[in-house]
Amino acid sequence: MTDNRIPTARLGAGGPEVGVQGLGCMGMSFAYGPTDAGESRATLERALELGVTLYDTADAYGAGENETFLSPFFRAHRDEVVIATKFALSIPPDDQTRRVIRNDAPYIRQAVEASLKRLDVDVIDLYYMHRRDVNVPIEDTVGVMAELVREGKVKHLGLSEVTGAELRTAQAVHPIAAVQSEWSLFSRDIETGVVPAARDLGVALVPYSPLGRGFLTGSFADADKDLTAGDFRRHQPRFTGENAAANAALLDPVRTVAEAHGASPGQIALAWVHEQARTHGLAVIPIPGTTKVGRIEENTAAAGIVLGERDLTLLEPIAAKVAGDRYADMAFTSAGRE
Ligand SMILES: NC(=O)c1ccc[n+]([C@@H]2O[C@H](COP(=O)([O-])OP(=O)(O)OC[C@H]3O[C@@H](n4cnc5c(N)ncnc54)[C@H](OP(=O)(O)O)[C@@H]3O)[C@@H](O)[C@H]2O)c1
Repeated sequence: MTDNRIPTARLGAGGPEVGVQGLGCMGMSFAYGPTDAGESRATLERALELGVTLYDTADAYGAGENETFLSPFFRAHRDEVVIATKFALSIPPDDQTRRVIRNDAPYIRQAVEASLKRLDVDVIDLYYMHRRDVNVPIEDTVGVMAELVREGKVKHLGLSEVTGAELRTAQAVHPIAAVQSEWSLFSRDIETGVVPAARDLGVALVPYSPLGRGFLTGSFADADKDLTAGDFRRHQPRFTGENAAANAALLDPVRTVAEAHGASPGQIALAWVHEQARTHGLAVIPIPGTTKVGRIEENTAAAGIVLGERDLTLLEPIAAKVAGDRYADMAFTSAGRE
């Protein structure tokens, strides 16, 4: 136990207490270019020392590779970690921009068995529906997920990229611990629908890509020029060409606030996400992704930064000015249905 451990928050009304910042593990195996496995493992260990207990993966990340990569860490710390994984999405290896989505019972049943095997655990702590297949009623999907809870394969349920109405329908079938959706200084579309619903229902919000996939740290400015050929961000409209140039200019107020706090722009981006817990009155547990020890230390320290009214006023206009969508195909997001 070190004295710089982050505070905790409850993962939904009936869920476990977790570190108020989780760790997104996707980039350790998938989407953002080459990684160093040894450094990623050291990052996982350091995160735990700092009080990070919620670890986020999905069967889609590297077609199971990410779950397999994480399993030795999870086994070594089984009682200290809360394992979150997801079903519903497969991404063909030859085309990272394509999405195949399934929410039907036979698919879910084979997906959970495959995840349990790769993770090498008896039970998944938090099992998310990663994306919504609109051809399957959400009450049917959550009904199957609830059966997994009764069978002891899963402890708590989560939904990713759902609308407020979908969350309310799901909650009527079985308690939902968490909604995972994109939420950051650059992506605030969830504030109108799912955030108020989550607050009303006592569901925690788990913001993904809280650093705007790294863009808010200033670590890259144009995905085509700065990132490697296989990097998924080269397919995201807001990170390339004219959009990227316009969006890079939006970081000026983030830098101004960072200087005032003696912090990095990334820390201010994370502090803003943590601040949303107070603004909206619900548990907010962001899961920034990093593969580097120094950055997990930097990111967790952001949980202790409190932004003032002047800071928030400076940061408020940013999201409305962002050029380009979150994804090339927004049909796979809650914003496409809200
Ligand atoms: N539900 C969904 O549909 C969905 C979608 C996307 C992601 N997710 C989950 O959310 C997690 C986080 O999202 P994300 O990884 O997309 O985006 P993010 O957390 O906004 O940003 C991650 C990127 O920022 C870099 N980074 C992290 N800390 C940094 C720092 N202090 N300074 C400079 N750069 C820094 C990382 O690179 P390094 O590794 O080099 O530090 C990585 O490239 C994922 O790991 C995944 O588990 C879920």
